[in-house]
Amino acid sequence: MDLPKIKMHLLLGIAAWVLCTNMWVSATGSFELEVLGIQNTRGELSNGSCCALPDIRLDNGTCVGQCRTFFRLCLKEYQTEVSDTGPCTFGNVSTPVVGGNSFSMHANPHHHVVLKLPFTFRWTKTFTLLLDAIHQDQSLVPNGTHLERVIERHVFSGVQIPGMEWKIKGHRGRAARISYRYRVLCSPHYYDYTCAKFCRPRDDRFGHYKCDEQGDKVCLEGWQGPNCETAVCKLGCHPEHGFCTVPDYNGQREDDSEGVFDSHKLKEQMLYWENGF
Ligand SMILES: *[C@@H]1O[C@H](CO)[C@@H](O)[C@H](O)[C@H]1NC(C)=O
Ligand SMILES: *[C@@H]1O[C@H](CO)[C@@H](O)[C@H](O)[C@H]1NC(C)=O
Ligand SMILES: *[C@@H]1O[C@H](CO)[C@@H](O)[C@H](O)[C@H]1NC(C)=O
Ligand SMILES: *[C@@H]1O[C@H](CO)[C@@H](O)[C@H](O)[C@H]1NC(C)=O
Repeated sequence: MDLPKIKMHLLLGIAAWVLCTNMWVSATGSFELEVLGIQNTRGELSNGSCCALPDIRLDNGTCVGQCRTFFRLCLKEYQTEVSDTGPCTFGNVSTPVVGGNSFSMHANPHHHVVLKLPFTFRWTKTFTLLLDAIHQDQSLVPNGTHLERVIERHVFSGVQIPGMEWKIKGHRGRAARISYRYRVLCSPHYYDYTCAKFCRPRDDRFGHYKCDEQGDKVCLEGWQGPNCETAVCKLGCHPEHGFCTVPDYNGQREDDSEGVFDSHKLKEQMLYWENGF
């Protein structure tokens, strides 16, 4: 290869890299999971040992040392037979250490443990999630990371349509019980079951519209056409021979109101959970 060709390849490579890293990162939506609580009464790992070694216990079986609990979420395509290994095709995310053996958002409403995974693809409605509660050992391994020990692994395959509503679920394992809720939210201006339908309100020469709840364009008063870019002329103005560039109308515009999160609903869901355990 001669020099100009190499230069050309280099430039194309850089261009591709810039495109891939900068232009395609805007998320069309996100999967959100909030841990509402974990109850690990004895402070144990999934294999029955104490989180904190050596394994020293009180008379009632409770470990003397506390777990240092954090959570990891792995999201992948819907699987009927979930493989524990393999890539998290929709992404993975972890929290820092968020508590000891147990905590509950009901007892401490300000203790939010949220795992959020933005996605840039069409939401498929179905998914498989793996939620791990993990003990982070304080000792470091030679590569400089902390040792991790699994407290519980929860696996769930489901169907979820984007919306503000949370779905609540639980896990009861050998060491701990976990309750959590999840939802899928489309990013602002993205609509539909797929979060792939785009509508951004505008009022300029390319269009004069707002968006309804389905993401369909709704022309502002005085405008018409597929992109609401044609002015509606004065009554009596000839539809073919008449002409106007701004609408003959002094309309008012309404505010878009977003859905508001209902704190009563959360309380209800939490109570439901406490009783359901
Ligand atoms: C449980 O796992 C820990 C960490 O891997 C290990 O040290 C301990 O011996 C295991 N306990 C049992 C009962 O297998
Ligand atoms: C075990 O005993 C300790 C200390 O008395 C107490 O704090 C803890 O709640 C007990 N755990 C269980 C599971 O009864
Ligand atoms: C988790 O995400 C990181 C980067 O975000 C990635 O390198 C890693 O492979 C993912 N893990 C799995 C199991 O998919
Ligand atoms: C560090 O080592 C541990 C075990 O020795 C391993 O599980 C972990 O994946 C390693 N982490 C990195 C970032 O290499």
